Amino acid sequence: MEGVNKVIDEAAQGSLTIIESKNKDGRKVYIESYGCQMNFSDSEIVASILTDKGFTTTRNLEEADVVFVNTCSIREKAETTVRNRLKSFNKAKKQKPEMIIGVLGCMAERLKSKLLEEEKLVDIVVGPDAYRDLPNLVNQVDDGKKAVNVILSKEETYADINPVRLLSNGVTAFISITRGCDNMCTFCVVPFTRGRERSRNPESIINEAKSLFNEGYKEVTLLGQNVDSYLWYGEEGLKKNYENLSEEEKSKSTTFAQLMEKVALISPKLRVRFSTSHPKDISDEFLHIMAKYENICNYIHLPVQSGSSRVLDIMNRGYTREWYLSRIDTIKKIIPDTSISSDIIAGFCSETEDEHEETLSMMEYVKYDFAYMFSYSERPNTLAQRKFEDDVDEQIKKRRLSEIIELQNQHSLYRNQQHVGKTYEVLIESYSKKSKEDLYGRTPQNSGVVFPKGNHKIGDYINVHIDSCTGGTLIGTVV
Ligand code: SAH
Ligand code: SF4
Ligand code: F3S
Repeated sequence: MEGVNKVIDEAAQGSLTIIESKNKDGRKVYIESYGCQMNFSDSEIVASILTDKGFTTTRNLEEADVVFVNTCSIREKAETTVRNRLKSFNKAKKQKPEMIIGVLGCMAERLKSKLLEEEKLVDIVVGPDAYRDLPNLVNQVDDGKKAVNVILSKEETYADINPVRLLSNGVTAFISITRGCDNMCTFCVVPFTRGRERSRNPESIINEAKSLFNEGYKEVTLLGQNVDSYLWYGEEGLKKNYENLSEEEKSKSTTFAQLMEKVALISPKLRVRFSTSHPKDISDEFLHIMAKYENICNYIHLPVQSGSSRVLDIMNRGYTREWYLSRIDTIKKIIPDTSISSDIIAGFCSETEDEHEETLSMMEYVKYDFAYMFSYSERPNTLAQRKFEDDVDEQIKKRRLSEIIELQNQHSLYRNQQHVGKTYEVLIESYSKKSKEDLYGRTPQNSGVVFPKGNHKIGDYINVHIDSCTGGTLIGTVV
């Protein structure tokens, strides 16, 4: 894949993107984002909160008065990358002592004032639910104090904030629909860094999607750690299960399937994507809505994590191997041409060789189009860290991960080969990375396609015949 989404995808593995605005007035803020798409989406909210108060953003570190790093804690490596980055900002600060350095996001929430007190790397620490306080916190630092706000909220969804789309190509945009996570997978820090799950008012989501479409955007991706558990029942607040709603709440409620339908109805020319789906919660009702609307893209990111029911159980994923496989069968029955991708963890606590083989055989069965693959990284204070021993030898983890990656590479190529000879509607997102003579776009199934430019331009829908492929890209010609 190429283009903006490639940058964001890579970010989940620890690379970065810098956002910029053209406004030259006011104090200059430089923001670097790491981690998942939700973090990138949050940086756009941060930019909006700050520009409302007269700040401007810059891509140029040298001219920055304030430097923010929006951080990720998901694996140890993600945090190491950020620490190194903070050290290099501190070097820059030596030349420019008035420069303010702040940490935002999940690492801020996890480490709290430790980053100020023990590591002395920063002036400001702000957790994901406290961004409205940022202008005030910068003022505190101006007054010579260090500033921390890591209070997690049960209501905050930033519903009323209109994100500054600084990262955007003007064609595709992200919209957060839930925040936090209630799932408590034992390996995962997210419930601790992002707090309790809450759903955003559907009206504000639909209005945001409509205004993006009116501004010329052609694709929106609805974001949440588990989009399937989206549920609005009439007020901001903690998630409840549908079964626990009162009759009045039920009558006012909106499920994820209903939300998707409303967004799909904005226009057939607006593509709708979503991420991440959870195997325990993805409903048939939703799959039928997906099948009904052509503009809901036929692509599901359905992380399996492991192919072994015992490992899934100690991960607290809430499903078994058999359940996952039956969800895959149902998806393929209801939407035959759907692409499916996954996240896989190699070497979770006590994983045996046979259980690793079960992950490989699960992959053989599904033949994912794409996968993010990791070796298990123990995170402080997670349930797994407290309850289980991280006892799979590093070398064994590495070997298992490389077997998983090798198999996935074969499957990615195999799946791409299935598209050769067919024609797909492609939304053009950017120039090809390799040549200005070629354009890049994606099929509804999320496969990246490169093709000769002709008279076409970014933002156009066109039909492309797929002539050949590699494991990562389809190569085609416009028909
Ligand atoms: N909400 C999503 C996952 C978000 S985190 C879901 O449940 O599917 C993205 C991915 O990072 C996870 O799917 C998992 O594969 C990986 N991950 C999370 N914690 C990890 C850890 N401690 N070690 C290695 N990988 C981890
Ligand atoms: Fe983490 Fe599990 Fe929540 Fe995903 S569903 S964010 S893996 S706790
Ligand atoms: Fe990382 Fe936080 Fe996202 S830990 S993956 S940035 S929710």
